[in-house]
Amino acid sequence: MSLYWQKDLETMPRAELEAYQLKKLKASMVQAARSPFYGKVFREKNINPENLHSIQDITSLPLTTKEDLRGNFPYGFLTVPKNEIVRMHCTSGTTGNPTMIFYNRHDLESWSNLVARCLFAIGAREDDVFQNICGYGLFTGGLGFQDGAEKLGATTIPSAAGNSVRQIMLMRTLGTTVIHTIPSYLTRLYEVFVEQGLDPRRDTKLRLFAIGSEPHTEEQRRRIEEMFGVRAFNSFGMTEMNGPGVAFECECQYGMHVWEDAYIAEILDPDTLEPVPDGEMGELVMTTIDREAMPIIRYRTRDLTRFLPGECPCGRTHRRLDRFAGRTDDMFIIKGCNVFPMQIEKILMRFPEVSTDYQIVLDTVQGVDEMQIKVEFNRDFFTGEREVLETLHHKLRSAVRDEVLVTPKVQIVEPGALPRAEGKAVRVRDLREAKKGA
Ligand code: COA
Ligand code: AMP
Ligand code: ZN
Repeated sequence: MSLYWQKDLETMPRAELEAYQLKKLKASMVQAARSPFYGKVFREKNINPENLHSIQDITSLPLTTKEDLRGNFPYGFLTVPKNEIVRMHCTSGTTGNPTMIFYNRHDLESWSNLVARCLFAIGAREDDVFQNICGYGLFTGGLGFQDGAEKLGATTIPSAAGNSVRQIMLMRTLGTTVIHTIPSYLTRLYEVFVEQGLDPRRDTKLRLFAIGSEPHTEEQRRRIEEMFGVRAFNSFGMTEMNGPGVAFECECQYGMHVWEDAYIAEILDPDTLEPVPDGEMGELVMTTIDREAMPIIRYRTRDLTRFLPGECPCGRTHRRLDRFAGRTDDMFIIKGCNVFPMQIEKILMRFPEVSTDYQIVLDTVQGVDEMQIKVEFNRDFFTGEREVLETLHHKLRSAVRDEVLVTPKVQIVEPGALPRAEGKAVRVRDLREAKKGA
């Protein structure tokens, strides 16, 4: 039996699991108190791990927000000397401080172990060939899956994002059996197969997909499965919680088991911040309990989901999260990159030639997701000269791409041409959803 079917941990009876979590939570709090941020918060609020008597007492601890992470950038959450850090990852965004996460050796070991466990749970084994079609570098999906798949013992192909023709060449040459990528990219990949006169069902050895990093529906999953003749499994992760490997579907394909020996997951009412009754939708709040360099306690993820009731036939006792139903903020995800509309607004407003009205349209065109930014030329600058428009067009495209890593289509329209909203302006129109399940 593989090391990555961690049966004792994954099928631990609930009462035992909760006792285990409580012990790890207390240890994490002791560790967290070594950071400037939690050290101060715990002192000011007189927080002591010894006052926690059950895992439910976690609700007595303060929540941590993205603003806390940004406000204490970069080292305010660090609990170990800097020379113990062996890796950092960070979320995109240069407008506000990005969120940087630091890992020591223990953290990388623990993280890759969790990712290996996820891959094992979907049926990947050491004789698989694993192709990771995902941004490397600062994105966690690159090295995160890389380390996990290596640990599992699969042959790994770190093919990264982009260049679909080469992706197909690699998977055909090396006999790829498992792919990790974002679901929306698979529609594009399929098109390239077709363009080349190939059929992935006939011309590849693909059998498993791990898909995540962006919301998608059950219908999208089924469509992807039919196109490729492959089983696709939902994968949830976030940079603040290491990256991938936080929650993953098992072979039953019904909800994502949160690895509760490494995280404590809560679902709160986003308004009252009180726990919702089991099975009800609310905001996911996460605590790391197996991280040393940068433990995070009760992090408000802004993701809306719920715990699925009942037990999973696979025998794992770790609770399952339902598909994500949206967010409590206005962040959207395009081509696997997280974007806050405010990031784009701040860029646009750096250009005096642009008026204050703009609109972001997200769409799927011939299988490819795209972000279109419609801006109005500022009346005071408008001459209608083509050269001026082209230069502005070019500058806007590069400035947005540098900020969010996605190249937008920019449309500059005449002053007053964008529809005016009654009441609050609708800045983002997302037309992708309707097309995906079709
Ligand atoms: N993963 C893999 N490839 C992707 C992709 C994704 N999420 N999104 C787009 N691509 C491919 C495109 O299909 C295109 O290749 P092709 O023309 O050979 O098919 C190529 O990348 C460039 O795409 P384009 O849309 O022209 O570029 P862009 O400048 O808007 O975006 C990316 C550039 C794709 C490199 C950037 O958006 C990125 O790095 N995305 C990956 C993010 C990611 O992995 N997130 C998960 C993190 S856990
Ligand atoms: P990042 O920190 O860049 O990995 O982004 C994390 C965010 O991506 C999460 O907070 C979610 O909003 C989103 N996300 C990740 N995985 C999924 C998934 N499987 N389904 C829906 N959204 C996801
Ligand atoms: Zn299961």
